[in-house]
Amino acid sequence: MSDVHIVVLAAGKGTRMKSVRPKVLHSVAGAPMIDYVLRAAAELSPRSITVVVGHQASDLQAALTGWAGLAFVIQEPQLGTAHALLTAESALSQARGTVILLSGDVPLLTAGTLERLVARHTTTGAAATVITAMVDEPYGYGRIVRIDDRIERIVEEKDASETERRIHEINSGIYAFDLEGLFDAVRSIAAENAQREYYLPDLIAIYRGRGRAVETVTVVDPDEIRGINSQPELAAMSRIVRDAKTAALMTAGVIVEDPATTYVDRDVEVGQDTVLRPGVSLQGRTRIGRNCDIGSGSRIADSTLADQVTVLDHCVVCDSTIHSGAQIGPFVHLRQTAELGEEVKVGNFVEVKKSTLGAGTKSMHLTYLGDAVIGSKVNIGAGTITCNYDGTAKRVTTIEDGAFIGSDTQLIAPVTVGRGAYVGTGTTVRQDVPPGALAVSAGKQRNIEGWVEERKKTRS
Ligand code: UD1
Ligand code: CA
Repeated sequence: MSDVHIVVLAAGKGTRMKSVRPKVLHSVAGAPMIDYVLRAAAELSPRSITVVVGHQASDLQAALTGWAGLAFVIQEPQLGTAHALLTAESALSQARGTVILLSGDVPLLTAGTLERLVARHTTTGAAATVITAMVDEPYGYGRIVRIDDRIERIVEEKDASETERRIHEINSGIYAFDLEGLFDAVRSIAAENAQREYYLPDLIAIYRGRGRAVETVTVVDPDEIRGINSQPELAAMSRIVRDAKTAALMTAGVIVEDPATTYVDRDVEVGQDTVLRPGVSLQGRTRIGRNCDIGSGSRIADSTLADQVTVLDHCVVCDSTIHSGAQIGPFVHLRQTAELGEEVKVGNFVEVKKSTLGAGTKSMHLTYLGDAVIGSKVNIGAGTITCNYDGTAKRVTTIEDGAFIGSDTQLIAPVTVGRGAYVGTGTTVRQDVPPGALAVSAGKQRNIEGWVEERKKTRS
């Protein structure tokens, strides 16, 4: 929008969160709450987006580096929402038209509602337009005081009278303002209230007193303008986003056995006919194909699974890739760019770190594969360990196509097992094994006849 500017307030301490982390960086279904606000803002294609930061400003700015074209202004100390808007004055000195004020702690507001706000604001030519909502529990919000149906002022919870507290129409903290004369008017706001803060909502009474028009837009779904001020509110918000996410997945043909215990982050993609069992957690930038089956208690973060992948119960998969037809679990841990080829099988208590396994390779029991490059159709016996760390650096183990690694083998990296080679059970592989060779290192077995009986005699 050509003459729309956006200011996002995010300088507050978030005292009620009881956390050292900046409030707006707390995560709602896998993304920082301010990320939702910035997405809605960006959808309007505004001329500028200014973020007011203050408390832990550098952490916040660092966390937002992925957002191109944001301007930051610093509010120090934080003296209230009116004071926060004033710090953006210099950034908007050349701007004309409308400024939309968003709150970094109101994440569910949609771009559609913001478009309605701008449309209402511009067609009525108002000095200010406030987004409001009717809610069952207005506690904590500013209340909209109307006289003859027109908004007269906004009163904060702490300053409200008994009667005002009974008002169910609340201030969302989201407004559109005509930039003309805005900052001069905001400067006239006083901090005469219970919190000794400069309240931006006081601007409404000031404009009405001066005979300038103030309009309201009321949202249909009050969840859209829910603010987050405490941990329970944060958890409730995540629940809303997750419920919407699993509902959307089910609409698209994903089978969610128990939506109440299924945790899917906002940006995760899941294909049709994939089954999510109870207690599954899909996080970050995870993408899962069609016809997969994700077992109970499994957590998959920032990973890509192709079609027809089976994840049995209780697996942890982070930053990894699984190709089609592969099966993992139960109790498998994949991490740091592990990559499993087509039809690979990795089973009970196997950890794969920064390793690739070629198509059809199997490692079914009690194994650690780290920094390994493993070909296709390799069989890795139970209890195999790639000894990848020599105390100073990580070394690579290479196992070529079709090799057979017997149970209880240690591969001391750097080392290569050649194509089709066999490694006997209990071998410590310190040197390369040529293609087609058999490697054995275990000593010859001795049996001492009658040893048990002899021992009993000496102990009696
Ligand atoms: C505010 C409104 C209230 C409204 C509610 C909606 C005021 C005085 N009250 O209350 O009417 O119902 O939002 O959610 O505005 N911030 C700064 N600098 C400051 C103070 C706050 O940047 O000095 C930022 C905060 O980081 C936050 C936003 O402004 O993102 C709102 O501040 P907060 O303290 O949460 O206001 P509420 O008490 O929720
Ligand atoms: Ca708030």
